Amino acid sequence: MSTTKIRVMNSGPLHVTGEFDLVDADGNRYPHQGIFSLCRCGKSASKPYCDGAHRAERWECTVKSDAPLRPAAS
Ligand code: FES
Repeated sequence: MSTTKIRVMNSGPLHVTGEFDLVDADGNRYPHQGIFSLCRCGKSASKPYCDGAHRAERWECTVKSDAPLRPAAS
């Protein structure tokens, strides 16, 4: 089983590493493998991918969870 890692960047995108399927609103699947950055700010011209526009827009968002970690459901 491969592991997919999603890292939430403060004032930036979601960095997704590993193997995963991106699924659009119509249910079309787009398999991915490697490292991708998904836009979180809504400013990218190439959504759902980050194109760096968050920097030019000086978009700010800090994500911090105080919730306890839970084991993944099997
Ligand atoms: S997070 Fe980078 S362009 Fe939106």
